[in-house]
Amino acid sequence: NAQDNMPTYRPLFHFSTDSNWINDPNGLVYHNGQYHLFCQYNPFGDKWGHMSWAHAVSNDLFHWQQQPLAIPEFTNPDGSTTMIFSGCAVADSLNTSGFGTAAQPPLVAMYTAHIEKGGKVQSQQQQLAYSTDDGKTWTRYAGNPVLDIKSTEFRDPKIFWYTPGKQWILVLAKPDEYKVRFYSSPDLKQWTYLSDFGGIGDISEVWECPDITEVPVEGTAEKRWLLTLSAGHEVKGYRAMQYFTGVFNGKQFIADQAPYPLYVDFGKDYYAGITWNNIPAADGRVIMLGWANDWRYANDIPTKGFRGQYATPRVLQLRKKDNGQYRLLQWPVAELDKQVKQSHTLPGFTVTSGEHPLYESVIPALDISFDVTLPYATSAGIALQQDSAHTTIISYNNATGNLEIDRSNAGLHNFSTLYTGLDTLHAPGLEKASFRIVFDVCMLEVFVNNGEYVLTDLVFPLQPQTGVVAFANKGTAAFSNIVVKEINK
Ligand code: FRU
Repeated sequence: NAQDNMPTYRPLFHFSTDSNWINDPNGLVYHNGQYHLFCQYNPFGDKWGHMSWAHAVSNDLFHWQQQPLAIPEFTNPDGSTTMIFSGCAVADSLNTSGFGTAAQPPLVAMYTAHIEKGGKVQSQQQQLAYSTDDGKTWTRYAGNPVLDIKSTEFRDPKIFWYTPGKQWILVLAKPDEYKVRFYSSPDLKQWTYLSDFGGIGDISEVWECPDITEVPVEGTAEKRWLLTLSAGHEVKGYRAMQYFTGVFNGKQFIADQAPYPLYVDFGKDYYAGITWNNIPAADGRVIMLGWANDWRYANDIPTKGFRGQYATPRVLQLRKKDNGQYRLLQWPVAELDKQVKQSHTLPGFTVTSGEHPLYESVIPALDISFDVTLPYATSAGIALQQDSAHTTIISYNNATGNLEIDRSNAGLHNFSTLYTGLDTLHAPGLEKASFRIVFDVCMLEVFVNNGEYVLTDLVFPLQPQTGVVAFANKGTAAFSNIVVKEINK
């Protein structure tokens, strides 16, 4: 029940491991009717270290069953240690690698081997491991590494099958050069250099965890290439994902004209997101999973018994604007609706310079949608309320054109000085907007205007939320199309 989750902050329906630390999702692959998820995992503790790949499987993206450790950190004959850094997995259906058979094609993972000796980084090189039992057990390839450029900053491979060229394409990061690099291969073992892309967009932090995929354009049969990666936010200082749209021609990514940097999520806690490989064409979705955390305080967040949680899996689409540019749309996967215990459609109301209760109940996990129109109010929004002193406030300010999340009084915050403060997104024109707010014990995801803007933030309430209150400052705001769904597993 809700009370039980408070001291631990364990989310009800978002992914976390049974114990220990996680950061990036790795090796997302759909295979034989199951979603596989691997992740950066410390088998020995709840802070970053001993990086290995944990593994979980799910039929519906919400009920996850943790599996035995997939690829553990290992020691080399020369006494150096190899940590299993981020990477990907593919279903090698044609057995191009020869690791399986035509009848039993393998799953193949590529990870960055981060090799250290005596506390000194020696290399970041790309290695393979494969499984011929649907991901249960993994064997490291005897011919490793498959890609080594004698660098200590070269990581986070993501591979996809490029149908027109009938070959594998690999993208990975050269973090300190703010670049991603492309290679091709017929068999996942021999890699040929193709091109570099980078140096534009946000270069305030190292580039990590790139991904590239073709994404449907909303309301059309068109697709456009989307390149995402994790870096920083040059103005706000926290770690953030950014994206580029454009064309991948088999060799090179050519970015569209756009006012880069374009950010994926405007909250403080969304990083290292990558998309699932091998989703059946009949499904057609591009689904991204991200780590809901910020490196600057990730090791200190006050969760108990585990540390690290993933955001709601999101369907990605692009919206073509009147000027021909593309913008990313993100929306919770429809499977979320199946987790709902109770759904309430509530009457609309207006509120003038004051408050109006929107929903009252002890709520560990909610999915709330509403439209708000506030042309005549200075600001309006909702507060997730614990008691009069402790609230998380989501609001839009007409005067400044800023969308804001204020978690400074949302509960525990003194674990890091970098945690508090307003999340502000300048988004003029939201005086009429639709909101969808997904809340799960310690995680808040705010989707505005069908996913045009998304903000993900961690909150650590001192006690369960007891209600949702709507408010308007200096004027009137109208709330309509209100649906509140309680989620409980
Ligand atoms: C991103 C990252 C990756 C690296 C992994 C190590 O969060 O820094 O670049 O592979 O974490 O755990």
